[in-house]
Amino acid sequence: MKDIIQLKDRRFKVMIPAEEIDRAVQAIADRINADYAERETPIFLGVLNGSFMFLSDLIKKIEFQNEISFVKLASYDGISSTGAVKDLIGLNGSIEGRHVVIVEDIVDTGESIEHMLKALQERHPASVEVCTLFFKPNSYNRSHEIKYRAMEIGNEFIVGYGLDYDQVGRSLKDIYVVTE
Ligand code: IMP
Ligand code: MG
Repeated sequence: MKDIIQLKDRRFKVMIPAEEIDRAVQAIADRINADYAERETPIFLGVLNGSFMFLSDLIKKIEFQNEISFVKLASYDGISSTGAVKDLIGLNGSIEGRHVVIVEDIVDTGESIEHMLKALQERHPASVEVCTLFFKPNSYNRSHEIKYRAMEIGNEFIVGYGLDYDQVGRSLKDIYVVTE
């Protein structure tokens, strides 16, 4: 593990080593295993691109029968009251009557996850919960309760384990934080 790395114009230093991430992923998997043991084939819905590494590690620790699918939030500039409009793409099969666990890399302000939740609720699932690797409580400004949070951090910008800085850094196995 290199302690300091350069990604484009920024320097980053190690903040959370892989072993610590693994312990946090195991703890969240334990809770989900307990909560979903009796439910009929839940669907894990990974939000691309950031969640790919978290979902692949999480799912190996899940002990009940499940389905895995991926979606993406595509933003485009549209004329609307809020400016940027986000579309949920990739959700092909029906989720009506199904138990859905959204798997996210990070919930920051909560804007993205709110779009996801709205789009999913319209499809009448039996239940929807959010499972995020990182949660930024000081930045979150929505009302929906984020049930499964593997780790909480401040407002610092982090990269690695799926998370990117301008599309690079996703393959790092540790979490790095930007240095001043
Ligand atoms: P939100 O809509 O404000 O909750 O932002 C969520 C999205 O912003 C995440 O899915 C990430 O793509 C990105 N993001 C927020 N904070 C970070 C960070 O610290 N590192 C990398 N990406 C981040
Ligand atoms: Mg993301």
